[in-house]
Amino acid sequence: MKKKLLSIILATAMVATMVGCGSATSEPAAAEPATKEAAEEATPAEEVAEEPAAEEASDDLIVVGYAQVGAESDWRTANTESFKTTFTEENGYQLIFDDAQQKQENQIKAIRSFIQQEVDYIVVAPVVETGWETVLEEAKEAGIPVILSDRMMDVSDDSLYECWVGGNFVKEGEDAAAWLKTYLEDQGRGSEEINIVTLQGTIGASAQVGRTEGFANGMQDNWVMLDQQTGEFTQSKGQEVMESFLKQYPDIDVVVCENDNMAFGAIDAIKAAGKTCGPEGDIIVISFDAVAAAFDSMIAGDLNATFECNPLHGPRVAEIIQKLEAGETVEKIQYVDESYFDTSMDVAAIKETRAY
Ligand code: AHR
Repeated sequence: MKKKLLSIILATAMVATMVGCGSATSEPAAAEPATKEAAEEATPAEEVAEEPAAEEASDDLIVVGYAQVGAESDWRTANTESFKTTFTEENGYQLIFDDAQQKQENQIKAIRSFIQQEVDYIVVAPVVETGWETVLEEAKEAGIPVILSDRMMDVSDDSLYECWVGGNFVKEGEDAAAWLKTYLEDQGRGSEEINIVTLQGTIGASAQVGRTEGFANGMQDNWVMLDQQTGEFTQSKGQEVMESFLKQYPDIDVVVCENDNMAFGAIDAIKAAGKTCGPEGDIIVISFDAVAAAFDSMIAGDLNATFECNPLHGPRVAEIIQKLEAGETVEKIQYVDESYFDTSMDVAAIKETRAY
């Protein structure tokens, strides 16, 4: 904080020298946006001119750099919103947000930029699990605590990060398989041969690795996994891959989509191929996330079930930061509570109670 205070004072002095008594922004050097996207989202200069003096304001604020995966899904949008509404100046924070556009190299660049800017905390939702050791060591050397949110990192030394908070992806996959078993049994199809295809998330991402593994754990002897391919967690790629599955495999009974947006794409592909889906249709559609649009899809009778992955990590990460600020220890692995929803429930009423 002391080093940062010095750079804030220097930056403020430089700005004062440059603009004299004119109305200019007094953003401290330590708080400059890391990327073009962040710069575009930064508060315009005229508005900042009304803010308290930079030394006082920024010294009180906890500066948090968030290296976000991208904007690939509704879930991700809700997650970004959760951080932006939690880490506000009113709440005592300055958030430097970076959208890596689903590219690990962009996230590494963002983390390095956060280190350079001497932020107080770095939060990362890593796009994939591997390849983080070097940059985490750089953060450790700079004395900046790193908190992992949503997805995990696979590092040999877990002291490189303070803690991780997110969903239990393996359990989500296992729950989906258990749900399918019961659903088929209830329909009298428990011993029928069932042909399944999977639209996987970004290969190597915790949400993909865990859900694929969890569903595989629950596979039954009479279930056949015809094919698994990545749809990159996006609706358009999900649709594209499902179109090719439908051409290749005429007898698909179930499509497992490792997020809701890929399910929306798959549903479009199924309909375009002249088939039907959902509880009354030819193909059972299962997905993960439980975003608002998934409830609409269940209400419309297209999606059978969605397994929740809660994106509202902003307040959870803020609580962790407050504990660390108070010198308390935090639990290394923090799973969030998750549920599931299907068309046997009053999904329209449940949707009204949901926050995302
Ligand atoms: O890591 C969480 C996953 O990432 C969500 O399931 C998906 O929608 C997002 O893109």
